[in-house]
Amino acid sequence: MTKLLLSVHVIAAILAVGPIAVAASLFPRFARESPTGTAVFLHRTCRTYTVVGVAVPVFGVATGASLGVLGDAWLLVSVLLTAVAAGLLALTILPAQRRMLDGTTASAKRLAMTTGVFNLLWAVVVVLMIVRPGSTTGA
Ligand code: HEM
Repeated sequence: MTKLLLSVHVIAAILAVGPIAVAASLFPRFARESPTGTAVFLHRTCRTYTVVGVAVPVFGVATGASLGVLGDAWLLVSVLLTAVAAGLLALTILPAQRRMLDGTTASAKRLAMTTGVFNLLWAVVVVLMIVRPGSTTGA
């Protein structure tokens, strides 16, 4: 059961967070050139995969419960960083993309920077998931 939950968790992370990272990184450049076509498509991609991405923490918590590691420090830090990244996406990045498309300019540079921080947070979480510092289970 744990293996199934972990598989869904990792597949969701790859297939949802991956597209968001790519689409969000490309967005500022395309939106600056023209707030139509590709920029609209990239914004929609970010929005759609944000919804799909909810599966990542849901199956992450299910995996953690199944393994009995929900109280572990590495996991709590991961949950915290995931929450910060999700908040950044929903409350800052997506609204700023919308403003750029609407022409009520948000700065492309600032958005690119926020998106960079967002991607960095995922990278840290993935390393935490793999290294699990302090964990006595597994390799
Ligand atoms: C609420 C947030 C999250 C929780 C509760 C959670 C929980 C877990 C748990 C319990 C494991 C199993 C570790 C083990 O085998 O002992 C795991 C593995 C993993 N998680 Fe998460 N996770 C969360 C967010 C994320 C995010 C945001 C990503 C990627 C962007 C991610 C990527 C991974 C990967 C790649 C593994 C496999 C690591 C391995 O088995 O070596 N997780 N996660």
